[in-house]
Amino acid sequence: MQKSCQVLATQFGLVLAFNTQMHSLDVEISASYFEALCGMFGSCNNNASDDFMLPSGDMVIKVVNL
Ligand SMILES: *[C@@H]1O[C@H](CO)[C@@H](O)[C@H](O)[C@H]1NC(C)=O
Repeated sequence: MQKSCQVLATQFGLVLAFNTQMHSLDVEISASYFEALCGMFGSCNNNASDDFMLPSGDMVIKVVNL
């Protein structure tokens, strides 16, 4: 069976899992970062409505798939 998942796990609680067949990337972060993040993966506060917030506090109005 062909291996389809590449996993990178860091000592600071970040896990990246790239599925080479689905071309998807799963990102997991330790719960110790709760409400301490920002950027395109969200603020890690269980509130998806404030994900994609810019450093200015404004929300991104359009996300373009590449
Ligand atoms: C979620 O985030 C939005 C935008 O910041 C805010 O208006 C809303 O009150 C938040 N919801 C909860 C349940 O905290």
